[in-house]
Amino acid sequence: MKVNGKNHRTVWMEGSSVFLIEQNLLPFKFEIFESKSYKQTCEAIKNMLVRGAGAIGSAAGFAMTQAFLEAPEKGFWESVEKAKKEIEATRPTAQNLFYATERVFLKAKISNDPVESAIHTAQSIADKDAEDSRKIGEHGNNLIESGFRILTHCNAGWLAFTDFGTALSPIYMAHKSKKNIFVYVDETRPRSQGARLTAWELKNEGIPHAVIPDNAAAHLMQQGKIDMVIVGADRIAANGDVANKIGTLEKAICAKEFGIPFYVAAPTSTFDPVCKTGKEIPIEERNPEEVLYQTGLTEDGKVERVLVCSPGSDAFNPAFDVTPAKFITGIITEKGIISS
Ligand code: MRU
Repeated sequence: MKVNGKNHRTVWMEGSSVFLIEQNLLPFKFEIFESKSYKQTCEAIKNMLVRGAGAIGSAAGFAMTQAFLEAPEKGFWESVEKAKKEIEATRPTAQNLFYATERVFLKAKISNDPVESAIHTAQSIADKDAEDSRKIGEHGNNLIESGFRILTHCNAGWLAFTDFGTALSPIYMAHKSKKNIFVYVDETRPRSQGARLTAWELKNEGIPHAVIPDNAAAHLMQQGKIDMVIVGADRIAANGDVANKIGTLEKAICAKEFGIPFYVAAPTSTFDPVCKTGKEIPIEERNPEEVLYQTGLTEDGKVERVLVCSPGSDAFNPAFDVTPAKFITGIITEKGIISS
């Protein structure tokens, strides 16, 4: 997608460096971070400089490539396997991370030239992620009618993938095909990916939208102001249960109550056939500081972090929840729409 008129991907690799859009600085600053080692890329995933299922997957694939490039001749495979474990320990929920590390590793293992294989596989994972997202946009656009007011949660836009996004990709296509749409963006506390990232993406594309407080969606649905919900996914269990950013579950329950279609948009690389139901999906618990503090722009243009809770209070911070399949109208994939 374009930023200041220039095409960008969220994450890419040149030589032995991985380049990433620094998402912790958005929407206040647009900067690219150069990671020179697999350990630095691990840190970038852990501290959410790069985040979102597909972008994490691409970054993890490139981190594996860095690990192959850095591995010494003696103890080559031990070194790569150790790095793989470190990369996989960065974030536990997004299936694309494990999909990417496993794929790069296994393809290299059966290759005559493991390093070349890793470079090639990681690049094809990133390219496929972008292409899948584009196709999800095409399929999802068929569900959107002109005049629709669409609710989305968190950020499943192009920043969360290599390009295009999942939940936002159909919205971009609908806007391009001149449909008149309006997007309600859940702010998505505690890290505010909706208010900071989705809003920034939509503004860049000139799509009419409003950020709403996380607790406003039920009210809007009750008032008949939402025609459809589209969210992304971090992992989809074999029975169709979906793990996504915390707060998704309550939106799905409300949508069912008010008879509003609730769609999940995700590539098939987000499906985890090993998890039979959503109960088996590991849910990441993050630092309570993300709840206690917020970062924003002061009136005189400085980015500052402030305490937003009562001093001395503790916080609990589960990053994802699981929406049972019965609340989901359909899953929009690159291959088409799976209806329940
Ligand atoms: O913690 P994050 O920001 O990496 O969470 C992932 C997400 O952005 C959301 O859960 C999103 O809706 C699905 S991933 C595209």
